[in-house]
Amino acid sequence: MSIQAMRKDTVAILGLGKVGTAIGFLLKSSGYRIVSIASRSASSLSRGITYTGGKPYKNFSDAAAQAECILITTSDDAIASVCEKISSKGSINPGKKVIHMSGAGGLNLLESAHNAGANIACIHPLQSFADVEGAIKNIPGSTFGITAEEKIKEWSVQMVRHLGGIPFFVSDVDKPLYHIAACIASNYLTTLMHMVQEIYQSLGLNHEDAVRAFWPLVKGTMSNIETKGTIQALTGPVSRGDIGTIKKHIHALRNKMPSFLEAYSILGILTADLGLEKKTLSPRNAELIKKILEGGRENEQTGQHE
Ligand SMILES: NC(=O)c1ccc[n+]([C@@H]2O[C@H](COP(=O)([O-])OP(=O)(O)OC[C@H]3O[C@@H](n4cnc5c(N)ncnc54)[C@H](OP(=O)(O)O)[C@@H]3O)[C@@H](O)[C@H]2O)c1
Repeated sequence: MSIQAMRKDTVAILGLGKVGTAIGFLLKSSGYRIVSIASRSASSLSRGITYTGGKPYKNFSDAAAQAECILITTSDDAIASVCEKISSKGSINPGKKVIHMSGAGGLNLLESAHNAGANIACIHPLQSFADVEGAIKNIPGSTFGITAEEKIKEWSVQMVRHLGGIPFFVSDVDKPLYHIAACIASNYLTTLMHMVQEIYQSLGLNHEDAVRAFWPLVKGTMSNIETKGTIQALTGPVSRGDIGTIKKHIHALRNKMPSFLEAYSILGILTADLGLEKKTLSPRNAELIKKILEGGRENEQTGQHE
């Protein structure tokens, strides 16, 4: 089915936070009719309506009753209870579609709607949204993980395409792994950057100067990953097999910032595997580096180098 060929469902949005509001705006812009919206707080509702349009409702069930497709974009913890509420109040007729957008949650969050005859799916934008405007800007071009019942798989793909996104099917069983990768890419990357910032701050830079100092390095690395892939983008002492440098790092961390030593070592061990794959690191040096990082004292004492 072409993008244009699919008739666009009427939509209800339950939960006008960042994602609900931005998705509502983009769906409306691509020709979906947002017929109803509901949110827990009056402030979210009045802000959201300026983006999404649609008739505002005080309760979720009344809003859900108006539309063929119901998007539950509340916080993750509220999805199942909102779904149960609208399902028990008769707002779900067989054939309606009920969707959530959580990366962590599976289809089980929508079980009550499924039992009421709805077709259910999770359509998750693989993106990080700090505010509504950012979400509106970044959703087009983002990949969406789709976990859907067979009947609405193709429909889900079309909705993602209408949002300007790139669809990708994820089975319900693989959802936790899918979400782990998203957390590493976004949250753990942030934690890594925070570690870098703390190290530079410990050398006397203020927060702003610290970010300014390492940001070009991060941007350059990201750009290399995007254009060359992770293996070819790898540089640095582990990939070169500079064992002396790695020993100095461990020594410095042990003395100055011991709380980072474990993370540095674990990441270094994983980095050695990338160096092996890139073939810039010999198997013997990879072995030595891993031993040093695992706390192999004999290597540190004998100072074996290749
Ligand atoms: N932000 C991201 O980066 C991102 C990315 C991908 C997917 N998602 C997913 O998108 C969904 C929404 O996330 P968000 O970032 O838009 O969150 P958000 O901005 O914090 O908005 C959450 C919404 O949930 C509502 N809510 C919270 N607790 C509720 C409850 N107990 N009952 C009813 N409504 C409740 C809030 O209502 P009021 O404001 O009216 O109180 C608000 O509308 C989540 O499933 C999240 O996993 C988020």
